[in-house]
Amino acid sequence: MTVDFSSLQVKAEAVKSRDIKSLFDDARAADFSQKLESDGGDLLFDYSKTNIDTETFELLLSMAEDANLKGRINAMFTGEKINETEGRAVLHTALRNLDAAPVMVDGADVMPDVLDTLARMEAFANDVRSGAYQGQGGKITDVVNIGIGGSDLGPVMGTIALSPYHDGPRVHYVSNVDGAHIADTLALLDPTTTLVIVASKTFTTIETMTNAETAREWMGAVVTDPGAQFAALSSAEDKTAAFGIDASRVFGFEDWVGGRYSMWGPIGLPVMLAIGPENFRAFLAGGQAMDQHFRTADFSANLPVLLALVGIWHNQGCGYATRAVLPYEQRLLRLPAYLQQLEMESNGKSVAMDGTALEVNSGPVVWGEPGTNGQHAFYQLIHQGTRVIPCEFMVGVEGQEAHLAHHHRLLVSNCLAQSEALMLGRSFETAMELMAAKGLSGDEQIRQANHRVFSGNRPSTTLVYPKLTPFVLGQIIALYEHRVFVEGVLLGLNSFDQWGVELGKELAVALEPIVAGEEPADGKDGSTQALVRFLQTGS
Ligand code: F6P
Repeated sequence: MTVDFSSLQVKAEAVKSRDIKSLFDDARAADFSQKLESDGGDLLFDYSKTNIDTETFELLLSMAEDANLKGRINAMFTGEKINETEGRAVLHTALRNLDAAPVMVDGADVMPDVLDTLARMEAFANDVRSGAYQGQGGKITDVVNIGIGGSDLGPVMGTIALSPYHDGPRVHYVSNVDGAHIADTLALLDPTTTLVIVASKTFTTIETMTNAETAREWMGAVVTDPGAQFAALSSAEDKTAAFGIDASRVFGFEDWVGGRYSMWGPIGLPVMLAIGPENFRAFLAGGQAMDQHFRTADFSANLPVLLALVGIWHNQGCGYATRAVLPYEQRLLRLPAYLQQLEMESNGKSVAMDGTALEVNSGPVVWGEPGTNGQHAFYQLIHQGTRVIPCEFMVGVEGQEAHLAHHHRLLVSNCLAQSEALMLGRSFETAMELMAAKGLSGDEQIRQANHRVFSGNRPSTTLVYPKLTPFVLGQIIALYEHRVFVEGVLLGLNSFDQWGVELGKELAVALEPIVAGEEPADGKDGSTQALVRFLQTGS
């Protein structure tokens, strides 16, 4: 059931012109932020630079209660089939349940299998990293992970994020069916010392299977037994066997792990190969710590719930259609892309769980880029555009490069400066003074000043973490996963299916023979027919 957001909308309308900065008294920064204490260093989520006041906060909390959030959280963690349209439990949390507390699905504990697969992955990773497992030409120097969507975005993001811990073979990712992707990647590699991982839950995804076959041909041209240098991450054992990959190098997972939630299990193997099993376990432990917090903390002090409630306020209350994720951490380069799938594939729905039309807006458009680069690209619109875009800043207390501390100081200063500028803005009077100082007067002073006004009063949140370690990355990813879940619960939709990707896939299959000229385009709409004709004939 979707929560009724009308009282939130009334509240948002009532405070629309109120200045966020007017809310600040001595207590606001502490009252509207939340710390999560942890051995690895504390996380701090600051949402004081939003227009949320105590009354709004209470209203949002009551909405979480109305949506039976507590019940839904328990249902997820205890293996109820909350992915109702696919009849599946949602248990990516079991993949990081390192203390092995039983998790029951259909009356059976899933943990023995989860831990067995983790142990097999670790043994294989150790063998590859040590050279006990070899290619035809000797020790594996390069790993190529072929996958797309949830079988690519998480591992890519994680590999880049944790590059200071990377002491295993080089890891490359191929996702796009555009031949350029695999051609450019393989061109750099020696097939005799390359391991190819085919990562596909279903083992049917056309992009992945096309790339996998191309990789097998490339390897087969030089390597006598190419199948021996392939591994598979998949639930479809019959299909991996048919492809010729020995079961000892197939790492499976159950249908209760959704693609975009899967980097904690076998889909994370390339990350494990890069950073080693111990660091990978630290990543899992970070996720598990966030699970524990999510399950037990009061909603008013619960990080994923708070992120979600701020999101609901902006999206449903204020009607802001997008949100920007702005990590001040170059190694979180691919986090926005990862979150796009996580959030938009999960909550981009227009039907409620019960099959009726969703009466509210679906989840927002999520986008972003690391700071400070984004500042020199699209922040112009964030500061002076006509639409308000809530910004989610992220920054570490410490960088990894201790010898470049002055870089980190500048990075942090820029991050804080942006949220400050968004909230405070710059008045016309100040802009006039600046223009006067430049020697302008009269109409020209006014004209130039107008261009230099910042309306301010633009909301943002800031997540501060100690340092981007494997543990902290695990905390951050689990934080966002649960945030998406909470928003989905309040919207009353199923965050764990993705029927919206199906139609395009079906039409692409049907179009291939038409594009190849083997079938006529007659049945297609006029635009598609004309495009096919132009692609085939150039006119
Ligand atoms: O694009 C839809 C989707 O099903 C995603 O949800 C998934 O992550 C991706 O395709 C890849 O699927 P698979 O792992 O089965 O190849």
